[in-house]
Amino acid sequence: MPISDAMQKAFNEQIQKEFASAYLYLAMSAYFESLSLEGFAQWMKIQAQEEVLHGMKLFDHLQERGGRVVLGEVGQPQAEFDSPLEAFELVGSHEAMVTKSIHQLFTLAEGERDYASQGILQWFSTEQVEEEDTANRIVERLRMIEDNKAALFMMDNELSARATAGGDGGAE
Ligand SMILES: [Fe+2]
Ligand SMILES: [Fe+2]
Repeated sequence: MPISDAMQKAFNEQIQKEFASAYLYLAMSAYFESLSLEGFAQWMKIQAQEEVLHGMKLFDHLQERGGRVVLGEVGQPQAEFDSPLEAFELVGSHEAMVTKSIHQLFTLAEGERDYASQGILQWFSTEQVEEEDTANRIVERLRMIEDNKAALFMMDNELSARATAGGDGGAE
């Protein structure tokens, strides 16, 4: 069943959001690199790659459904942050915004009885639970760490161990 115009428009907007997420997290990676927090920087770089995979997943779906991909503008992301905590709080609120957007898309797909889109959006919805949970856990730990540099660098070391994108819920 070909995709409707309304679904096509909404999917294109979601593709833009995923690439904007990638851009934001890449900016955060550069910020962490500037603080010599290389584990945080690496973690953000992988997160950015995951967002690209999300964008590509939607890109492919839209084309498989006979839709037309029209890429939106991805603006300049925030470059400076007050602290690692502020950066991760922004990840949390950004992911909450993305979750809301996915849910709105799902509601639209339900209204149109677009079952194929509901399938892919179900995957995204589950992925969002994981992403919000991860961001919130890191925020909690950064709040506990406060100004303790030793604890911050220990966490940096821990985050450097993150596997590459696609290994745990990427685009498969
Ligand atoms: Fe995403
Ligand atoms: Fe995300």
